[in-house]
Amino acid sequence: MNEHSVQPGGYFLYHSIGQFEGKDQAMAAALAGFAGFWGAPDDGQWGQALALKARFLALWRQVIGAPEGSVTTCESVTAGLYAIIGALPADRLRGKRLLVAGDCFPSLHFLLSAAAARFGFTLDTVPLREGEFWVRDEDMIAAWGADVGLALLTLTTSTASHRPGLAELVAHGRAQGSLIGVDITQGAGVVPYSVDAPEVDFTISTSLKWLCGAPGAGIVHVHPRLIGECRPEFCGWFSQENPFSWDLDAFEYAPDIRRFDNGTPAVLAAAASIPGLEWYLTQAPGAIARHNLELCEQIIERADAAGLRLASPRQAERRGGSVMLQIDNAAATVDRLRAHGLFTDARGKILRLSPGWITEANAVDRLFDLLSARD
Ligand SMILES: Cc1ncc(COP(=O)(O)O)c(C=O)c1O
Repeated sequence: MNEHSVQPGGYFLYHSIGQFEGKDQAMAAALAGFAGFWGAPDDGQWGQALALKARFLALWRQVIGAPEGSVTTCESVTAGLYAIIGALPADRLRGKRLLVAGDCFPSLHFLLSAAAARFGFTLDTVPLREGEFWVRDEDMIAAWGADVGLALLTLTTSTASHRPGLAELVAHGRAQGSLIGVDITQGAGVVPYSVDAPEVDFTISTSLKWLCGAPGAGIVHVHPRLIGECRPEFCGWFSQENPFSWDLDAFEYAPDIRRFDNGTPAVLAAAASIPGLEWYLTQAPGAIARHNLELCEQIIERADAAGLRLASPRQAERRGGSVMLQIDNAAATVDRLRAHGLFTDARGKILRLSPGWITEANAVDRLFDLLSARD
């Protein structure tokens, strides 16, 4: 029996890949549309391809409340962060501390560690306290002084779904004169976020999680006030106002976010992500978050009843769209659940449960019935 096809309600992997009903057909139609004009023996390809990129960016600007000319594409969140590090004025980083929490997404930490020497900053990682699942805001603030050139915050962590108090952290960081960036990957589409509330300097994300997009469709937002100061070293012909300005001595950055572009744009991932963004933006406001919250509350109730240890904040306003549980045999549990058409994953001893739009309440009950069953 292919339980996957008969029990779509058992999907708990929105922290990895988001789903909505009809996603496969909607993506197939988008990709067929692309193939249709890309394979046509005429000269209309780039006009249509760039229009899809523009559509993707316009949808993203709506999601995060960003003005025109402040959001562009990147391949991954890691690539987006690298583009920014390589673009900031040298004195924003050299001789300064770059502050990050120990529960940031590991890939970003790997990048920052590797980049520290060349860009001349000291990477300062605020640790988790013994036995805790996320870095406390008070520990971030205690570590955040005027020598912090840049702080990277995470809207929702990938191992605990913890939401730091962004307003308070940003207010503190502003008082220190630091630049502040936010990785919103685990929050975009399920947690409210606007680049202006609180105002941050840059935002990075992918589209494939709660926004149900495709891999390779990352975005970078840079506040317009900062864009003019940025000189991206990862640049190319598309970083210019006019990509066809090919005079080797006349390179000039575009005045807006396009300066963060480089070579020929990889528009396919953006095209494949448009259906997910359109789906998200046409749902009744708050409906997705409400459905998620109801299921998360149900998960917490059942976890408490089963005596399982919560590895996510109990307070809803401090939590993203997932509920993590600490269990000893997490990997084996994932396998057992999969055999019953319940799709989850684990990181070490942390079982990650992310119920989204297609996840059904009865799947939460089935999942906990299985967890409680001794077999
Ligand atoms: C918080 C967070 N940031 C970033 C990423 C992805 O980064 P990248 O696109 O570089 O693989 C993830 C993926 O799970 C994530 O959870």
